[in-house]
Amino acid sequence: MSLGIGVIGAGIMGADHAATIARKVAGAELVAIFDPDTARAGETGRATGARRVLDSAEAVIANPQVDALIVASPDHTHLGLVLQCLSAGKPILCEKPLAPTAAECLQVVEAEIATGRRMVQVGFMRRFDPSYLAMKQAIAAPSMGQPRFFHSTHRNASAPSWFTSDMVISNSAVHDIDIARWLLECEITQAKVFAPAQGGALRDPQFLVLRGGDGVVVTVEVFINAGYGYDIRGEVACENGAVTLSPPDLVHVRHAGTEAFGFAADWRPRFAAAYHGQLQGWVNAITSRSSCGASAWDGYVATAVAEACLRSLESGAEVDIALKERPQFYDPSTAA
Ligand SMILES: NC(=O)c1ccc[n+]([C@@H]2O[C@H](COP(=O)([O-])OP(=O)(O)OC[C@H]3O[C@@H](n4cnc5c(N)ncnc54)[C@H](O)[C@@H]3O)[C@@H](O)[C@H]2O)c1
Repeated sequence: MSLGIGVIGAGIMGADHAATIARKVAGAELVAIFDPDTARAGETGRATGARRVLDSAEAVIANPQVDALIVASPDHTHLGLVLQCLSAGKPILCEKPLAPTAAECLQVVEAEIATGRRMVQVGFMRRFDPSYLAMKQAIAAPSMGQPRFFHSTHRNASAPSWFTSDMVISNSAVHDIDIARWLLECEITQAKVFAPAQGGALRDPQFLVLRGGDGVVVTVEVFINAGYGYDIRGEVACENGAVTLSPPDLVHVRHAGTEAFGFAADWRPRFAAAYHGQLQGWVNAITSRSSCGASAWDGYVATAVAEACLRSLESGAEVDIALKERPQFYDPSTAA
């Protein structure tokens, strides 16, 4: 029997997830969609063959044929929607960030623990990307020694007009923060941000220097108006070797005295395999009553580190990060 999926928010990510569920994910069926922009909801419904386009998030959550929900609405709406899904006893894949503040993320953590089982996965899809998975495997080889540095480059072609200096961190760099924790298996203890002076304009690019508990250093360049395309790079330097993500292209063309390869316009083509792997892993985990991917706790930590970065952006100082103690409920041995 297929798992019935409801999608809340049918914008860029909601439409992409709906299409992936409808066309590529085994064991799941797209049952219902809601978006307050009814034209967008209808268009996604038609394009994906969803059974229903409903007129509220509440109607999607309450629909008896909806077993699990994808929350792909704007960041500030995540908390309320995820809490409603938890009250209804339905598992959720919530787009990142879990919520814009660490305090809100902790509300989700507490509500999830109260249900007694893992119900929330956060959409940190890089954990399912074949290149990051290969990088994690390569640095785990005992002969590589301990990781010392992780350099992460995160460039977008252009930012939407409503994007703020804070969102460069809370909405974009959270991906780099999460993948650093996942790759290096350590917590970040200090954060310092370098950015152009305010001057009324978007502070872009921003450069984050994050220090890990065991001496590892993470640098993150986030440049969201980089102009030329969507470009994600990464390198982990270990005691005895280094591992670099390969460029995400199938061919390099050498012609007329140059060598060239293409960049995606945005994240969807670059991370298509990751989004698919994330959704298939989520569906499989719900069906087998297990969990995978980034937990609500991971969502809290990523936002807590982002908050420290925001304080550093404002003050210019290095900021210490004091995380809550991880509840046993989120013991990593229970997650993939
Ligand atoms: N994982 C990733 O790689 C990735 C990439 C981009 C965006 N995101 C995240 O996905 C989420 C959606 O981003 P997007 O780029 O699709 O934005 P978008 O603006 O394209 O889509 C958001 C949609 O949500 C709808 N919406 C607004 N309020 C709503 C509400 N209360 N309930 C339901 N729907 C509502 C809007 O009408 C819009 O259609 C954000 O949280 C964003 O941070 C994740």
